Amino acid sequence: MFDLRSYIAQQNKLVNEYLESIYQKADDSLRIVQAMKYSLMAGGKRLRPILCLAAAEAVGGEAVDVLPAAGALEMIHSYSLIHDDLPAMDNDELRRGKPTCHVAFDEATAILAGDALLTLAFEILSSVQISEATDSAKWLSVIRLISRAAGYHGMIQGQMLDISSEGQQLSRCELESLHLLKTGALIEASLLSGAVLGGGNYQQIEVIERYAQNIGLAFQVADDILNVEGDPELMGKAVGTDQLRGKSTYPSILGLKESKEFAKTLVRNALQALEFFDNKSDPLRAIATYVIERKH
Ligand code: IPE
Ligand code: IPE
Ligand code: MG
Ligand code: MG
Repeated sequence: MFDLRSYIAQQNKLVNEYLESIYQKADDSLRIVQAMKYSLMAGGKRLRPILCLAAAEAVGGEAVDVLPAAGALEMIHSYSLIHDDLPAMDNDELRRGKPTCHVAFDEATAILAGDALLTLAFEILSSVQISEATDSAKWLSVIRLISRAAGYHGMIQGQMLDISSEGQQLSRCELESLHLLKTGALIEASLLSGAVLGGGNYQQIEVIERYAQNIGLAFQVADDILNVEGDPELMGKAVGTDQLRGKSTYPSILGLKESKEFAKTLVRNALQALEFFDNKSDPLRAIATYVIERKH
């Protein structure tokens, strides 16, 4: 039987070793490097890189071949968290069980550390040693899809909507679009990058896309639910903050019970998408359920 716990531990190690190898080249005495490392190596779940590796495996590729994409995705995610926590955004003081970057350093350093992680991600993506022309086309398309997901077509637009709709009651449809952009886009890009670089064919990539859209949304629905009833100790961040800031969330619109049902439906859809994949997609299957059952 597939053991998700040991799979996650193993992939986590792979991702962390890769990220460490990037930092070995950086000058640790620099304050900017210290701030970048502080947030990136603070022990997140590494879900996006793990999804990237798992998607590559699901289509018959090798995890090691997609590590630069996995690492870059985690850098982009970590930058987004540093900026998300800033006083001008969600104004949070705890993240990944530690004081947020602007608390541990200062606001200017946190802004710059975020900027530096985002640009480092693209430095890494564009520095991959490529031996064949077909590989270079794949990496280019991955750089494009990650740029689009991270920028104003995706996550940034979602963050803008999230901030500008504080204090307003969004419709369910508006909230769905917001969540798909703010969180879904980067999760989808993680899975698609893995599938493209893993050599997936058109049909396989389409399946991964359907899986991704469902678990991307499910992940943020679960984040909304955890913000209501999660354990801050386990999560390493504050709870109850969405309501305090007047954010529209699934629990605020549908209530907790219906939000949980909706999350389950999304996971069922994701699993259905994978029906015609073989056991190489077992990690993706197990992660789908984990996304809504997680405690942090
Ligand atoms: C938190 O993401 C922010 C959201 C997009 C909901 P994660 O829950 O993946 O955070 P880490 O990486 O484990 O800290
Ligand atoms: C964070 O969303 C999304 C991004 C950083 C893009 P939230 O603000 O809802 O996540 P948490 O609850 O702070 O982790
Ligand atoms: Mg936010
Ligand atoms: Mg936040």
